[in-house]
Amino acid sequence: MKLNIALLAGDGIGPEVIDQAVKVCDAVASKFNHDITWKPALTGAAAIDAVGEPYPDETHAICEAADAVLFGAIGHPRFDNDPSAKVRPEQGLLKMRQKLGLFANVRPTFTFPSLIDKSPLKRERIEGTDLVFFRELTSGVYFGERGRKDDGNTAFDTMTYKRFEIQRLAKKGFEAAMTRSKRLCCVDKANVLESSRLWRETVQAMEKDYPEVTVSYEFVDAVAMRLVQWPSDYDVLITENLFGDILTDEASVISGSMGLMPSASLGEKASLFEPIHGSYPQAAGKDIANPLATVLSAAMMFETAFGLHEEAKTIRDAVNKSLAEGVVTEDLADGAKAYKTSEVGDWLAENI
Ligand code: IPM
Ligand code: MN
Repeated sequence: MKLNIALLAGDGIGPEVIDQAVKVCDAVASKFNHDITWKPALTGAAAIDAVGEPYPDETHAICEAADAVLFGAIGHPRFDNDPSAKVRPEQGLLKMRQKLGLFANVRPTFTFPSLIDKSPLKRERIEGTDLVFFRELTSGVYFGERGRKDDGNTAFDTMTYKRFEIQRLAKKGFEAAMTRSKRLCCVDKANVLESSRLWRETVQAMEKDYPEVTVSYEFVDAVAMRLVQWPSDYDVLITENLFGDILTDEASVISGSMGLMPSASLGEKASLFEPIHGSYPQAAGKDIANPLATVLSAAMMFETAFGLHEEAKTIRDAVNKSLAEGVVTEDLADGAKAYKTSEVGDWLAENI
């Protein structure tokens, strides 16, 4: 199969972890006879430095023409404490999501048997956890009307949802639930927010189309609590943009390291795959960052964007083997030998 993949390495540790995913994908391509063309493009602070804009038109054209996008991380500390900065790397990410129409952000949380004691939560609480969030990604308070009034002394951000935006996200969640354990949880704040009441009403109306799926409705504050108490109670969770942003970071610690969790962002046509972690600037250039979340994102890409399940499984098997044999970076080494980012990538590519 001919695969045309846009490669957006971004900032911080992005380029290092992306390099490892490329090695692994190239090994998969040679094993299964695929022909990958990588199309590198600028994004984030790297793009601001080069062309003054975090998601340049040229990058968008490359992403639109590609079969899938593989993304590293964006963000740079020099922008974080400067509220007056006019252009920020994160704006690139938001613009990209909007322009590519990536409305569904799929973020799984699962445990690895060999890492279960690395989790800050007790073994008996997390064993068997295998859940997935479908976070709405192109609407809500991230994209609603915002501004200042009252001579700058009042600020507002608006959470707005249209029924079709909820429907298309919920449809992805229902479809995923059908292939899993047929449980769906709609996370909202319907006791307070009108937009949440529209979420609930819309999802309730869709229940009849999926009679086999058991749907529950829970408030976001309660889910925040139950997620770390009994994570294995959950299967598929659907939620709006900001709630999903917060809950998926919380969920990622269940597995024991943020460096492990992959994600997919899906639109009607485009799809993008990226690790959940950020640009981790303290580690940039040191060859110490954990590349596994990016490598597992590449596995999601083979499966979701190309329908190549055997290829995805081969990548996951290699990752499981590296964890079982202790070929891991310092975040997981626990006093034993820590491998470099590039060494883990080489080892995985050899074990494909
Ligand atoms: C994420 C990130 C982004 C978000 C930031 C960098 C804009 O935290 O992908 O979860 O809030 O969506
Ligand atoms: Mn986030």
